[in-house]
Amino acid sequence: MEFIKFAAIAYLLGSIPTGLLVGKLFYNVDIREHGSGNLGGTNAFRVLGVKPGLSVTVADILKGTVAAALPLWMGTELNGVIIGIFAVIGHMYPVFARFKGGKAVATSGGIILGVNPLLFGIMLLTFFVTLYISKYVSLSSMVTGVVTVAVTIIQQEFLLTAVVSVLTAFVIYRHRTNIIRIKNREEPKITWM
Ligand code: G3P
Repeated sequence: MEFIKFAAIAYLLGSIPTGLLVGKLFYNVDIREHGSGNLGGTNAFRVLGVKPGLSVTVADILKGTVAAALPLWMGTELNGVIIGIFAVIGHMYPVFARFKGGKAVATSGGIILGVNPLLFGIMLLTFFVTLYISKYVSLSSMVTGVVTVAVTIIQQEFLLTAVVSVLTAFVIYRHRTNIIRIKNREEPKITWM
C-alpha cells in the first residue's frame, strides 16, 4: 500500500510539465509545437533560450531527486531509486499534459543526483565530453545512459545497475526518432560548443 502511495506521488510529481508551464506562462509559447516537439529541457533551450532552458532542465532534474528522496524523508523503508522510476514515467507520459512529455534524461539524472552524487558527476562529464565530440544532445543522452550502467557494474551497485538499465532503456526508446535522424544525418547539431 505504501509502495503504491509513493509511486503515485512520484508519478504526479514527474507529470508536472515544466517545459509547458515555463513556455506558456512566461513566453506564451507551447514548445510542443516547435523544434523537436519534445517537452524537455533541450527543446526549451532550442525554442525559448538559455535561461528558460536551464530552468526547465533544473526543474526536471529536481523532480527525480525529490521523488527518490521522499521515501527516506518520510521515514519509510522503501527504496528511493525504485520510486524514482515512477517520476520518470510521469515525466515521459504526464497526466497533466495529455501524456506527451519528455525523453527521460533530466529526471533520470535527478534520481542519481539524489542517491549517488559522484555518479551524477560522472554522468555530467560523460554527457559533455560526448556532446563536445558529437554535437548531438540526443546521442550524448543515450551514451550517458549506457556509460552509467557500466559504471554501476564496476561499482558493484547491482540494484542501481538494474534501475539505471531500466532508465537507459526508457531513454533509448524515447529517442527512437532521434536515432533515425542521426542515421539520416538530419539530427540538428548544437552550434555553441
Ligand atoms: O533530453 C532530450 C534530448 O536528448 C533530445 O531532445 O528535443 O533534441 O529531441 P530533442
